[in-house]
Formats: sequence, C-alpha cells, structure tokens
Amino acid sequence: KNVAVILPAAGSGRRFGQDENKLFALLAGRPIWLVAAERLRAHRRVARIVMPISDQDRPRFEGEFASQVDALGIELACGGAERTDSVRAGVDRVAGDAAVQLIAIHDAARPLVRSADLDAVFAKADHTGAAILATPVTATVKQSLDAGASCRTIDRSTLWLAQTPQVFALDVLQRAYAKHRGRPATDDAELVGRIGVHVALVPGSPDNLKITHPNDLIVAEAILKTQHE
Ligand code: CTP
Ligand code: MG
Repeated sequence: KNVAVILPAAGSGRRFGQDENKLFALLAGRPIWLVAAERLRAHRRVARIVMPISDQDRPRFEGEFASQVDALGIELACGGAERTDSVRAGVDRVAGDAAVQLIAIHDAARPLVRSADLDAVFAKADHTGAAILATPVTATVKQSLDAGASCRTIDRSTLWLAQTPQVFALDVLQRAYAKHRGRPATDDAELVGRIGVHVALVPGSPDNLKITHPNDLIVAEAILKTQHE
C-alpha cells in the first residue's frame, strides 16, 4: 500500500442546485461521496484517504456519517474556498509520509471510477511521476468568433477531457503546490505542468463522470446498474 488519496469534498454544488452539498445526494441509496470513498478504499494500493470538507458540512460528517468515516479510515481535513485550496490542505496532510510514493487526487463527485482504471493510472504514474485519466473528445468542437456571429471547427483528434484521479509522485505535487501562487487552475495537472513536468494521459472510461448537474445523477444511476451486470 503506497498511494495516498485526496478526495476533495469541500464544494457546495452550486450548479447542482440543491440547498445542501450535492455530495449528500443519494446514488442508489447512498451519498455520492460515500460511493466514491468506498471505491478508492477497496483498491489494494490505497493506504490513506484524506477528505477535505467545508466547515459548513463538518457537523454532518462528524455526526450523521461518523460511522462511515471511521469505518473507511477517512481523515477529514479543512477544505478552502477554491478546489485548489482544498487539495492543498490534503497535500499538506500527506507531506512527509515516508510510506507514500504516489498521491492520487480524486473528486468526491466522481463516484463510479472503475478499479481497472485506477490500476492503469497508478501504474502509469509509477513510471512517469504524473498521469491522469481522460477520455477522447467525441463532439465536434467549435470556437466562437465575434461573440458567436461565426465559428470555426477545432480539430478534435488531439483533444481529451480530463478526469480524476490525477496521480503524481508525492514530491512532484509538493513542488507544484509550493510554486503555486494564486493564478487559478481548474485541475492539478495544470499546476504540475507549470513546473515543467509532463503529465501522461491514460485513456479512462466515460463511466467516470462527474456529478455536476442533476441530470448527471440520472445517468450515474443507469451506469451503476450496468457496472453490476
Ligand atoms: N471542491 C472542494 N473545494 C472547493 C470546491 C470544490 O473540495 N472549494 C470539490 C467538490 O466537492 C467536488 C470536486 O472538488 O468533489 C469537484 O468540484 P465541482 O464538481 O466543481 O463541485 P462544486 O464546486 O461543489 O460544484 P459547483 O462548482 O457547481 O459549485
Ligand atoms: Mg466547483
């Protein structure tokens, strides 16, 4: 066991549109964050799971969900205003753990990641120090010109959609976060790229969708059924 997982869960789920964090919404009867945490915990290489949460949600994780948090050995951390702040809290918690070679950052909002995809992205990161799951873009992509008055087609043959886990050698991620000062980034691969480290793409599965809008939960329910077949 030599992988530490950071499972950022400190968002609010604004686009999901409920009055509580979307991660408490139920997927086949269980909260989204719990389904995600169980999948990571089940992987033989995962040694630790650090889950950054918001101050607002802490009473629920320490009350209603305390037994699940304990049973999975989840370490709660203090998330921040931006996802990057939440991940940084996780990195700080894992820093200095000599038993950990890789650190895997996985959105708690991606509950359906497959074990075979975890194997693949961990193995790639073993060799390269930086690897992420991603899927090829299947849509025809247009760039808007003149505020939509016209458009042009972007060649999609080299375009991929980034997923998580995003997996790095611990020292690589620590260096990326040590250098990071404010300039926003939407994922950790971007921060690692900024220190000049090449990030490998590992073809993943569309099963590993992120729950962003309510429709995504309907799709996830359907995918979950096919995974059990
Ligand atoms: N996240 C986090 N800390 C933040 C923002 C997001 O830990 N300050 C986490 C979310 O809880 C989620 C993951 O990062 O598991 C991916 O973020 P996203 O899907 O954007 O979730 P939210 O930020 O909660 O949703 P929204 O952007 O619609 O508000
Ligand atoms: Mg967000």
